Amino acid sequence: MRFLNFLFLVFFLMMFSCTKDKVDNNVNLVCTDVVSFAQEIEPLINQHCIGCHNSSSASGGYNLEGHTNISNQADQIIGAMQASGFQLMPIGGPALNDDLIQQFLCWIEQGKLNN
Ligand code: HEC
Repeated sequence: MRFLNFLFLVFFLMMFSCTKDKVDNNVNLVCTDVVSFAQEIEPLINQHCIGCHNSSSASGGYNLEGHTNISNQADQIIGAMQASGFQLMPIGGPALNDDLIQQFLCWIEQGKLNN
């Protein structure tokens, strides 16, 4: 009986910790591969953001063309992708899927490489 109680406690703790992980996207971040700027990050930005954030039309003051601009504004970009401290982007939604957001987080974690 005591063992059963212990099991319930363990299950409860696991459920609690899973809920917590969902709230904070960084807790569960697992970056298995090195993210490529040229093959993953720049195409992501070009497909989803560049139409409104380029050198001739920098909406909100954000030009997201090229590695220098993207890496210098990485905090604001991820903030907007997660609607955390910034307005959700792409503007009006829907948000990018979690895989793309994780990819961007991993790229930041790996030092915002120009690779
Ligand atoms: C259809 C046009 C459009 C697209 C696509 C778009 N944005 Fe924006 N973005 C805007 C506009 C317009 C603003 C300024 C909004 C305002 O000032 O209210 C803005 C503002 C921002 C801001 C500042 C938000 C803030 O709260 O200060 C960031 C960061 C940003 N965009 C990043 C991105 C990223 C990253 C993407 C791609 C995932 C993206 N945007 C896609 C139009 C767009």
